[in-house]
Amino acid sequence: MIKKIPVESLTVGMYIHDLNCRWIDHNFVRSQFAVKNDSTLVKVHETGVRELYIDTAKGTDLDEAPTKEEDDRRQDQAVKEILRETPQKPKPVKPTDYHQELTQAVTLSKDASQLITDTMNDVRLGKQVELEKTEQTVTKMAQSLMRNPNALMGLGRIRDADQYTFEHSVSICTLMVAFAQYLEMEPEEVLQIGIGSMLHDIGKIKTPLEVLNKPGKLTDEEFKIMRHHVVMSREILEKSPDISPIALAVAAEHHERYDGSGYPKGLKGEEISVYGQMAAIVDVYDAITSDRCYHKGMPPTEALRKIYEWSQFHFNPTLAQQFIRFVGVYPAGSVVELKSKHVALVLAKDNQDPLSPSVLVVFDTKDRKLILPKERDLKAHDDSIVGYTIAEKWGLETRKLMELMI
Ligand SMILES: [Fe+2]
Repeated sequence: MIKKIPVESLTVGMYIHDLNCRWIDHNFVRSQFAVKNDSTLVKVHETGVRELYIDTAKGTDLDEAPTKEEDDRRQDQAVKEILRETPQKPKPVKPTDYHQELTQAVTLSKDASQLITDTMNDVRLGKQVELEKTEQTVTKMAQSLMRNPNALMGLGRIRDADQYTFEHSVSICTLMVAFAQYLEMEPEEVLQIGIGSMLHDIGKIKTPLEVLNKPGKLTDEEFKIMRHHVVMSREILEKSPDISPIALAVAAEHHERYDGSGYPKGLKGEEISVYGQMAAIVDVYDAITSDRCYHKGMPPTEALRKIYEWSQFHFNPTLAQQFIRFVGVYPAGSVVELKSKHVALVLAKDNQDPLSPSVLVVFDTKDRKLILPKERDLKAHDDSIVGYTIAEKWGLETRKLMELMI
């Protein structure tokens, strides 16, 4: 049986089924292993993991611990309750705006990806970061997200494994700007948050490629080198005379954790700025929902459950709840299964009626074949979402599906 236990209850003789963190946050050779001695115990504690899963069929049990299913149900219930609360001042989105915005969003997302590629190349050549260009691009992204957040946010789900760092930066920037707007932050604050998010991982250009792209597990030394990218991001950005404290905070604090278990400084609670606290949540959400990490990308429901679960230790809990409400039940770009036995892509969520977004129907699950893509507004249609699905389950590729809507 798989059970969830607090790390303090872990003893020699137990078998770890899942460390309950991203691969990048630990450097064990495997994520499933027996705890054979005290040094392994110490190493698990050092990861900063606060709760983890054990397999009681392969090692010692802990009677009072809940099973994974019981715990997942409890977390899901908590997320549902958070989502049930009305979002702050829901902004109505006109579906017609979506298509107009999408054309601009496609160009914008390509420009942003090119910008971060160029910026990284410049810094590699010893040049300074050109903040002016970043500012122009982030301003345009913020304007697009104000007009209709669904277009640019939906595009953020398109990933290319080779382009991970670039697309991750653009996606983080999009999510952070939209989240800041949702929190009704001042436009200048939003802009600086966007600049910091776009450049938060710039320090990775100093990480040797053999470490950055290593397919297997990192050694202790390589792990340290990998983590050093945060310090490098700060150093590179500090060289730009116009960099703002907000943008710096986003980059320098995106791996800090609310309980002090993060890096590089191990800052705790309110020692981390609200910008760093936001970046920590968004960075983790983006990583676990993108294809590269964690079982080929988690569906948003599962990702939100994880954010909630980890917010008990790693994130500011209030901010995490706001983020959960911001993402909502069916964010644009997610793949869903309909009652009518079709697979569809969520195009635009409707804050007034979050359970009935407009979708693009693309696949017939009865006949298991692609159909001519058809847009369907679930509010005005006798059809509804049964739940999330994984495109690959139907032999589809999320990326190709997304291209259908462009
Ligand atoms: Fe990072």
